[in-house]
Amino acid sequence: MANDKPTLILGIETTCDETAAAVVERQSDGAGLILSNIVRSQTDEHVPFGGVVPEIAARAHVDALDGIIATAMKQAGTGFAELSGVAAAAGPGLIGGVIVGLTTAKAIAMVHDTPLIAVNHLEAHALTPRLTCALAFPYCLFLASGGHTQIVAVLGVGNYVRLGTTLDDAMGEAFDKVAKMLGLPYPGGPEVERAAAGGDPQRFSFPRPMLGRDDANFSLSGLKTAVRNEASRLTPLAPRDVSDLCAGFQAAVLESTADRLRVGLKLFQQRFGAPRALVAAGGVAANQAIRSALQSVAASAETTLIIPPPALCTDNGAMIAWAGAERLAAGMTDTMEAAPRARWLLDAGSTAPAEFANTRARF
Ligand code: KG4
Ligand code: ZN
Repeated sequence: MANDKPTLILGIETTCDETAAAVVERQSDGAGLILSNIVRSQTDEHVPFGGVVPEIAARAHVDALDGIIATAMKQAGTGFAELSGVAAAAGPGLIGGVIVGLTTAKAIAMVHDTPLIAVNHLEAHALTPRLTCALAFPYCLFLASGGHTQIVAVLGVGNYVRLGTTLDDAMGEAFDKVAKMLGLPYPGGPEVERAAAGGDPQRFSFPRPMLGRDDANFSLSGLKTAVRNEASRLTPLAPRDVSDLCAGFQAAVLESTADRLRVGLKLFQQRFGAPRALVAAGGVAANQAIRSALQSVAASAETTLIIPPPALCTDNGAMIAWAGAERLAAGMTDTMEAAPRARWLLDAGSTAPAEFANTRARF
């Protein structure tokens, strides 16, 4: 456990379609305390387009960010002069939004003469369980959102090894695209889950992508195409067809995910020994069926499943503030030269293929 001075960090998140700011305290024993966590989702602005429109997202961040930061500071009962540092997600993500958040953080850091911490958004997801339940390193992270699908060995602050990633679509993106082709609204994940609950998962035999492969990568676009082909064959779709297609798709995702994670945990064990936990994060971790699949994968690997509360699993400012606090405690701060990055791999040394967050248009 660390034994240093308590720190107070403002965190800013603008990499996709949430404008968020939070104030988090890192206490001298290394424990975290969320003093405020304000998130404004832009979903309503993007719904008419069936996905996140980068230009609309960037403008909405410009309009909302000042007010969100002011609310976060007020709710935390603190002033800029009391901050130990200001952290912003500097990528990966939609570049317009990233520029808005990082530039704002730089301005605050400069005016109030406080350290700047340019945080990798994925690192913030990765470190969240240390904020919520003081989890010790090393642990295995499964991150599945609209822009990312990765299995990561989290070994220390700034020390990550990507064990697997998607070769094509992100998992949330695949849920969103399937929803769209079946006429369900955006964001599609919760809609597909709801429809699947009343459907027959066995009516269609969709492929189980990557099943049995000895790397821990994912692939979702072939499955998505298989759903599209069935849907076109059946058009016009009856509600029963939609439910059965969703159930079949979700069952295939579950089986593939469980298999990929079993391999990921095996690779983890071989390289780093037993993980302290399997941690799931990202919007897809809200899916109850996926949670149960993860539970049994964790149990058979004799490890514990940890899923942070939903508000900290999806994009938020507290995770950025916390990653900033962890980096500050480790002496890792940034200069005004820190660049906004659309693409930013979490680890340098992995052999897994690159995954680019800005290919996330969900049309
Ligand atoms: O982490 P998140 O809130 O935002 C980012 O993408 O960064 O994740 C949103 C994604 C969307 O693609 C959404 O459809 C998916 O997570 N999602 C779900 C569920 N809830 C949200 N996917 C499957 N089942 C769900 N219940
Ligand atoms: Zn995220």
